[in-house]
Amino acid sequence: MTSEIPRKGLLMLLVALGLTKGGVVKASKDQLVNCTCENPHCKKPTCQGAWCTVVLVREQGGHPQVHRGCGNMNPELCLGRPTEFVHHHCCYRSFCNHNVSLVLEEPDVDPPLLLILGPVLALLVLVALGALGLWRVRRRQEKQRGLHSDLGESSLILKASEQGDSMLGDLLDSDCTTGSGSGLPFLVQRTVARQVALVECVGKGRYGEVWRGSWHGESVAVKIFSSRDEQSWFRETEIYNTVLLRHDNILGFIASDMTSRNSSTQLWLITHFHEHGSLYDFLQRQPLEPQLALRLAVSAACGLAHLHVEIFGTQGKPAIAHRDLKSRNVLVKSDLQCCIADLGLAVMHSQGSDYLDIGNNPRVGTKRYMAPEVLDEQIRTDCFESYKWTDVWAFGLVLWEIARRTIINGIVEDYKPPFYDMVPNDPSFDDMKKVVCTDQQTPTIPNRLAADPVLSGLAQMMRECWYPNPSARLTALRIKKTLQKLSHHPEKPKVTH
Ligand code: ADE
Repeated sequence: MTSEIPRKGLLMLLVALGLTKGGVVKASKDQLVNCTCENPHCKKPTCQGAWCTVVLVREQGGHPQVHRGCGNMNPELCLGRPTEFVHHHCCYRSFCNHNVSLVLEEPDVDPPLLLILGPVLALLVLVALGALGLWRVRRRQEKQRGLHSDLGESSLILKASEQGDSMLGDLLDSDCTTGSGSGLPFLVQRTVARQVALVECVGKGRYGEVWRGSWHGESVAVKIFSSRDEQSWFRETEIYNTVLLRHDNILGFIASDMTSRNSSTQLWLITHFHEHGSLYDFLQRQPLEPQLALRLAVSAACGLAHLHVEIFGTQGKPAIAHRDLKSRNVLVKSDLQCCIADLGLAVMHSQGSDYLDIGNNPRVGTKRYMAPEVLDEQIRTDCFESYKWTDVWAFGLVLWEIARRTIINGIVEDYKPPFYDMVPNDPSFDDMKKVVCTDQQTPTIPNRLAADPVLSGLAQMMRECWYPNPSARLTALRIKKTLQKLSHHPEKPKVTH
C-alpha cells in the first residue's frame, strides 16, 4: 500500500531511488568511498566520504533538482528522520550516487493508519492556525484602514501563494505565536520540524552540524546538536521560547524539536537560513570595501545592543549577554547585514525582579575570544554587567577581524583569527591567559586605518573594547551609536579599487 499524503504536505518531496534501502553493507569507519559531487557546495566534481548521497529536491513552484554528494558525520541522518514526509537515502559503494535515475515518488513504507492520520491532522491544525492568524492580522490591518474585505480564509491563502509570499514569514508574523516568546506554539514547532527535509550539510564542529533544510520549498537552517552539547539546545530553546527576540540582527527562530531514535536523542534547532553563512566564512571569501565593512559592523552592533538592553512592558525582554560572541556566531544575511546566532550559553537578567538566570550549561565560551577577567578567573559571576563586558571584549575582536579585511588605499590583509600571531592553533586556556593576562597583549590594529577619518574611528573603538578594566569598556549601545555616526560621516570612507 502506498500512503495517502495530502498535497500540501508534499510541496517538497525528497526521494532517492535505486539506492539500497535495507540491509546495506556500510563502509567501516575508516573506509572512505569516492562519490560524485553535484551540489552548490561542491569544490570538485568528486568528494570522499563514508557514504554517497543523492537527494531530489523540489522547491516550491520549481523544477526538481538533484543534489549529489558525500555523507560523513551522523549516520542517523542517513537512515532518515521519523517523519512521514521526508526520507534521506544513502549508498555505500564508490560512485554509487552517479548514475541514479530519480523520480518523485511517495515513500514506499506501509505506515499504520495513525501514522498517516497523525500528520494529516497536525498539518490541518497548522494550516488552520496559520490561516486564522493571517486572517486576523489582515482583518485588523484592513479595519485600521477602514477597508473591510469580504475575502475568506481560502482566498487569503490563495492570495498569499499567488503573490509568492513566504509561508514561513506569514506563519511567524501571524498571531499564532506562543504569546510570551518569539516562537510558534509547540505543536506547530513540532509539525514544522517534522516536515523539514535535510538537503545539505553546511557546517560541522564540536557543537554538531548545521544543515540547509527545506520546508515547503523554503530554505531553513537546521542545527543538529551533538549529544554532549544538549544543554546548549535546552538553553537556546528556552530563551527563544520565553523571550520576544524578533530583531533584524538576531538570527530568526522557527522551531525546536527533540526526537528519540533507537536509543539516541536528536536535538534540532530550526532557524532562518542565510546563504552567505557566518561572518567568519564571509571574511575568508572576500575583502571588503570600507562601506561594506561598516555595514557589517553597525548591524552586528545593533544585534548586540538589542540583546544587552532590557525592554520593559508586555512586549519587553530581559537583558541578555551572549557569552560566546565570535565571527563564527555572526551570520551574514542576503542584504549584507549581520545577525547574531547561538544563544546556547546566554545569561538573562531582569532589573525589576533583580533575577539573574545563568542557566546550567557546563560549556564555556571560545578560549580565543575570552576576556582577561575570564582567563584569570577574576570575573564576578554573580554580577550581570560582568557578562556584558566580556561580550564587548569579544565584539572588539570581531571588529578587528573585519578591519583586517577592509581595503584601504588598495591594501588589505588575509583573514586571520584574533591572536593568530601570538598563540598556537586551537589555543589552550593557559596559552590565552599568558598572552592576554600576563603579557597584556591585544591584536595589532592595522596601520592603514589611521589614514581614513572614518576607519580611524573604528580603530579607536577597538581599543576602547579592550580596556583591561572591564567596566571602563564601551557599552554595546555606545558602540552602536558611534558606528552609526561613523557610517553617516560626511566624508564617507574612501572606496578604493
Ligand atoms: N551556519 C550556521 N547557521 C547558519 C544559518 N542559519 N544559515 C546559514 N548558515 C549557517
